[in-house]
Amino acid sequence: MDKIIISTSENIKSEIFIEDDLRNTFQEYLEDKKYFLITNTKLAKLYPGFIYKFNKNRVIIIKDGEKYKNIKTFEYIINKLLEQKIERKDSIIAFGGGVVGDLAGYVASSVLRGVELIQMPTTLLAMCDSAIGGKTGFNSKYGKNLIGSFYCANKILIDPQLLNTLNIYQFKCGLGEVLKYAFIEKSCNKFSEFNLIDFLKENQKEDLKNQLKFIIKACVSLKANVVTNDRLEGDLRKILNFGHTYAHPFEALSNYKGLSHGEAVAHGIKYASKLAMIKGIINEDYYNQIVLLLKKYELINKKLKFKKEEVVKLMMHDKKVENSKINLLLPIAPSEVALFDNIDSPSIEASLL
Ligand SMILES: NC(=O)c1ccc[n+]([C@@H]2O[C@H](COP(=O)([O-])OP(=O)(O)OC[C@H]3O[C@@H](n4cnc5c(N)ncnc54)[C@H](O)[C@@H]3O)[C@@H](O)[C@H]2O)c1
Ligand SMILES: [Zn+2]
Repeated sequence: MDKIIISTSENIKSEIFIEDDLRNTFQEYLEDKKYFLITNTKLAKLYPGFIYKFNKNRVIIIKDGEKYKNIKTFEYIINKLLEQKIERKDSIIAFGGGVVGDLAGYVASSVLRGVELIQMPTTLLAMCDSAIGGKTGFNSKYGKNLIGSFYCANKILIDPQLLNTLNIYQFKCGLGEVLKYAFIEKSCNKFSEFNLIDFLKENQKEDLKNQLKFIIKACVSLKANVVTNDRLEGDLRKILNFGHTYAHPFEALSNYKGLSHGEAVAHGIKYASKLAMIKGIINEDYYNQIVLLLKKYELINKKLKFKKEEVVKLMMHDKKVENSKINLLLPIAPSEVALFDNIDSPSIEASLL
């Protein structure tokens, strides 16, 4: 069993456990109190044995999909909890991917002004990223994740075996983030010794599924270190957005279909790295290594169809724009990135050629 602890200066503590079969042994980590389970229809079908371990009046099943990450579902969950007379000493368990985790997290932060939260992430993206660090929330018609809070889970229970039922599209959503961690490792923790780039280079792609425990542990530890030092997203936490400023337009221009989030992030990493090479920040050798690794894990083999002016326009509308210059994370050395605040549109266009 691997255990990682996030402990911030404000006395906020999250304990993260990574262990195969946790979906069957999780009760060992719980106390003698009432637990409310929030999950979705797909997971309820896939893991009935897990769901049946809870009192059925305290199981709340929401519809599956990003489009249900909204205020209606939030209200539905809250009403169910209040109907069942949830009390402040009770606890909420979120069993699902990022959608369930974000929504249940926000519910936990707001119902009765806050009850204990336990995350049990079930996707690679949630295990490596969204369940860690306490960002919760849901979408509004004005944009994604506009309503939310910072609310850390008390415990995060990760069972890598849950990933056996994940399809390849969803798997790639998380894999893009894993590669991101490889390229930002030293910026997350300059003493980190996971050496994810080398590990991913040496690993046979076909063997990846056997290495997930190590990979999840590495990503969780790196994110834990960032969150410990910057829980409320000052400058440090921004490094987790590497590749994302390009990725958001790519996702929007593909109408959020066909191209997974991880693939969009991987393409974003490629273009950000190209820009860094053009500007002479990194050499061609490191750029080629980055591209080779992204190709090896089949994250950039889909050809993107876009007009570069459209990508630039969308990037300029991104929330990070200041004085018609964009803030952009660029690689500066192996496993290291830095935030540049003066990137103009001609530079971005040049990277997209
Ligand atoms: N809070 C954060 O810090 C943070 C960070 C990154 C992303 N996010 C959010 O996370 C969400 C994306 O998360 P996601 O990629 O996990 O999407 P998701 O929660 O929609 O899950 C993807 C799909 O996989 C299914 N699924 C989940 N676990 C499964 C399993 N074990 N086997 C089979 N199918 C399974 C889900 O039902 C869903 O259909 C977005 O809403 C994004 O905004 C949050
Ligand atoms: Zn992401």
